[in-house]
Amino acid sequence: MKKLLYAGSFDPITCGHLDLINRSKNLADSVIVAIFSNSEKKSFFSLEKRIEMLKLATKNIRNVKIDSFDGLLYKYVNDNGIDYVLRGIRSNMDFESEIVMAQLNKKYYKKADTIFLMTDPNTSFVSSSIVREMLRYNADVSDLVPKEILGKL
Ligand code: PNS
Repeated sequence: MKKLLYAGSFDPITCGHLDLINRSKNLADSVIVAIFSNSEKKSFFSLEKRIEMLKLATKNIRNVKIDSFDGLLYKYVNDNGIDYVLRGIRSNMDFESEIVMAQLNKKYYKKADTIFLMTDPNTSFVSSSIVREMLRYNADVSDLVPKEILGKL
């Protein structure tokens, strides 16, 4: 039984995140999407709202569970017996920072490894920060986020 973790802030979940979740569901028996909720970092959406939006967006995916954590990623990974930690790569800028994180975490993982998926070109320009910026100006984000969460923004 292989467990895959997709961790992130998901503030809010975007079409890019959902694309990766949909593609990763076939890579492991169980996919855990975990919201990193740092009590010291102010988020745009509350943890409860982010959980609600993730649940709505993934409600039809059989092997996906939603969770949240505060603290270090490698601890969550080791405590939960994770085999694969998924990260999405949109650009070489992502690659630069992700490789450092993956190498650092690998030192502390008991058995896990980081795997990368290239984002779909149709969503590679999407980020939660762009969505937040657009929401601040009441712009239409319907092409950038899963349709299931539109009523929740
Ligand atoms: O959505 P993001 O911002 O790409 O998510 C990044 C995340 C949550 C995976 C990363 O910030 C993280 O791993 N946070 C947990 C704290 C941690 O382990 N930091 C690295 C060592 S200092």
